[in-house]
Amino acid sequence: MPTTDRLLLGAEVNGEPNTQSLKLANRHGLVAGATGTGKTVTLQRLAEQFSDAGVAVFAADIKGDLCGLGALGAPQGKIAERIASMPWLNHQPQAYPVTLWDIQGISGHPLRTTLTEMGPLLLGNLLELTDS
Ligand SMILES: Nc1ncnc2c1ncn2[C@@H]1O[C@H](COP(=O)(O)OP(=O)(O)OP(=O)(O)O)[C@@H](O)[C@H]1O
Ligand SMILES: [Mg+2]
Repeated sequence: MPTTDRLLLGAEVNGEPNTQSLKLANRHGLVAGATGTGKTVTLQRLAEQFSDAGVAVFAADIKGDLCGLGALGAPQGKIAERIASMPWLNHQPQAYPVTLWDIQGISGHPLRTTLTEMGPLLLGNLLELTDS
């Protein structure tokens, strides 16, 4: 569990940590930036911190690069240097619990449901049924 009620988003130009209130993190958000500017790493860190706080995260991992948080990291080179420059980060590489869903059910948890599990409301919406 987290020792703080704030999510760490990154660092300011002056090296100070930039955080967001955990209890206000149920709002919509947008992470934008040019290629290679850290969007995926930011999403990974958010998912990890939500996991620490006991919040389940569903991520549509289209490019397959978010699920790396299921493996223990081994920072090297410039990444290790960057981490060392931020002692307040208290970085401890950690593997997070990840369940992969797979529509075909071959290499992950099968993504399927039954009519009974869907219930009448969802089924009615899907079939665009009228009230009657
Ligand atoms: N906070 C950070 N500090 C230092 N290096 C970082 C940080 N975030 C990301 N990086 C480095 O930048 C690289 C690119 O980051 P990332 O893959 O998150 O970018 P992206 O915005 O998702 O790129 P793309 O648009 O190509 O998907 C990472 O592999 C990592 O080496
Ligand atoms: Mg990315």
